[in-house]
Amino acid sequence: MSDALSIQDYAQLSDEECEQRILAAREALGERLVILGHHYQRQEVFKFADFAGDSLKLSRQAANSKAQFIVFCGVHFMAEVADILSRDDQVSIIPDLAAGCSMADMANLAAVERAWQELSEVLAPDERVTPVTYINSAADLKAFCGRHGGIVCTSSNAGKVLEWSFAQREKVLFFPDQHLGRNTGYRMGIPLEEMVEWDFDQPLGGLTPEQIRKAKIILWKGFCSVHQMFQPEHIDKFKQLYPDAKVISHPESSFEVCQKSDAVGSTEMIIRTIADSAPGTRWLVGTELNLVNRLHEQFKHEGKNIHFMSPTVCMCSTMFRIDPQHLAWTLENLVAGNIVNQIKVAPQEKEQARLALQRMLDISL
Ligand code: 13P
Ligand code: SF4
Repeated sequence: MSDALSIQDYAQLSDEECEQRILAAREALGERLVILGHHYQRQEVFKFADFAGDSLKLSRQAANSKAQFIVFCGVHFMAEVADILSRDDQVSIIPDLAAGCSMADMANLAAVERAWQELSEVLAPDERVTPVTYINSAADLKAFCGRHGGIVCTSSNAGKVLEWSFAQREKVLFFPDQHLGRNTGYRMGIPLEEMVEWDFDQPLGGLTPEQIRKAKIILWKGFCSVHQMFQPEHIDKFKQLYPDAKVISHPESSFEVCQKSDAVGSTEMIIRTIADSAPGTRWLVGTELNLVNRLHEQFKHEGKNIHFMSPTVCMCSTMFRIDPQHLAWTLENLVAGNIVNQIKVAPQEKEQARLALQRMLDISL
C-alpha cells in the first residue's frame, strides 16, 4: 500500500488520457474487479461497465459477483445495496461520494419512524401495514422494512412486491416515491381515492384518521426531480406531430404521463421494448437523457426515431457526477493498494436491510 493518490491530480486529465489509464488499471486488477454501470451513466463511463442494468439486474449482479472490488458507476444507494448483498470480504466502491439520489433523500429514518408512530394512533401498523421502500432509499430505511415485516421494490418488480405486501397485511406504506406507488397500485386495480398522500411535513401526514382507515396505500410525498419534468402536454404535442408514434415512460413519471403512455416500465424494460419494436418505429421516451441519447444512437441504424420527452435538457445530475476522472482515480488507487470511497453499511443495519432485499429477490425470480 502507498499513499492514496489525490483526486486533484486527475481533475485536469482529458477523457482520452483517463481511458488509457482505466483500461490499464482494469487489466492490472483482472478478475479482482467488476465494474457495474447503471443505464443513466454518461457514455464516457458506461462503456467501461462489465455489466449494465436497471436497479434489480445490478443488485443481482452484485449478489452473484465473485470479484473482490465492486466498483459501482451509479448512485450511492446502489453501492449500498451491493455492499449489503455481497460477501463480507468484498468491497463496494462508488467513484464519487457525492453521487446521491435526491429522491432517496426525501425520506429519512426519523421521518419514517415518526410516520409509523403517528399511524399507531389510528391503527396498529405492525399488524395492518406493510412498509415498502423503493430501492432508491438509504440502507437504514431498508433495515426499517426488514424489522417491520416489510420489503424493498424496484421499478421492475413493484407490482409483485405490492401483491406480496397485501398478502401479509391489508395496507401499505410506500416510500419515498409517490409516483411509482400510485402508478403500480392503479395498475393493480386500486382506485386513486384509496391511495392517499403522506405529507411528511404535516402532523399525521396531513391526513384525517378517517382517510388513513379507508386507504389501501399511503404514499410518501417524494418524487424524482428528473421524471417530474415530463408533462402530459409534451405527449399531446408530440402526438399531434406524429399520431402513429409510441410513448414509453419510467414509472417515476407522474400518473397523468403514465396514463398517456403506451408502455411504462424500468430502464431495462424500456430498452427491451424499443429493441423489440419494428424498424421505423418512432418513440417518445420519458426517462433520463443519457439513456435516451444512447437509445437514439443504438437504434438509428434500424430506422427507429427516439425522442426525449421534455423540451428542456434534464439529466440526473448525481448520476452525472461519475466521470472518467473519478473512475481512473478509483481504479489506480486500487492498483496501488488503496481503497477509496468504500461504501460500508453497519452490521446490524446490513442484516435487517438484507432481509428486506432478500424478500424482494425471492419473489422476483
Ligand atoms: P431502474 O431500476 O428502472 O433502472 O431505475 C432506477 C432509477 O433511479 C430511475 O430513476
Ligand atoms: Fe434518483 Fe431520479 Fe436520479 Fe433516479 S433519476 S437516481 S430517482 S434523482
